[in-house]
Amino acid sequence: MLIQWNKSLETGISEIDEQHKQLILLFEFMSKSSDADDFVDHVNVLIDYAKNHFSFEEHLMEVSGFQDIENHKKAHLEFIHKCDEYIDDLDEGTFNPSKTSDFLFNWIVNHIVAHDIKKAAPVIRSYISTQN
Ligand SMILES: [Fe+2]
Ligand SMILES: [Fe+2]
Repeated sequence: MLIQWNKSLETGISEIDEQHKQLILLFEFMSKSSDADDFVDHVNVLIDYAKNHFSFEEHLMEVSGFQDIENHKKAHLEFIHKCDEYIDDLDEGTFNPSKTSDFLFNWIVNHIVAHDIKKAAPVIRSYISTQN
C-alpha cells in the first residue's frame, strides 16, 4: 500500500526532502502502470532517479564526516540490485507488479525513516549549519 508524503518522512534537509518526495511520486506512477512494458519504463526512471539521489546523499555524508557511510552505501546498492532483480523476473515471466511496487516502496520508506532520518540527517544538518 503506497502512502502519501508526510512530515514523518522529513529529514529537515530541503534538497533531500524534495528528492524523497519525487521518489515517492515515481512509485505512484509505477503503481499505475498500464502493462508490463510501461512498468519496466517506470522502474528504469525510478532507478535513474534513485541513483542520482543516492550519489547526492552520499556526497553530503562524506563531506559531513558521517561515520556509518559504508553501511549506508551498501543499503543504497541493495535497493538498486532489488530493482534490477525485479526487471529480470519480469523478463522471465515470473513477475507480480503490485507485489513489486509494495516491496520496493516499503523498502525505500523504511530506509528513509531508519537510515536517512535517524542516522545520517542529524550529522548532515549539523554540517550544513556550520556552513552558513
Ligand atoms: Fe534518501
Ligand atoms: Fe539513504
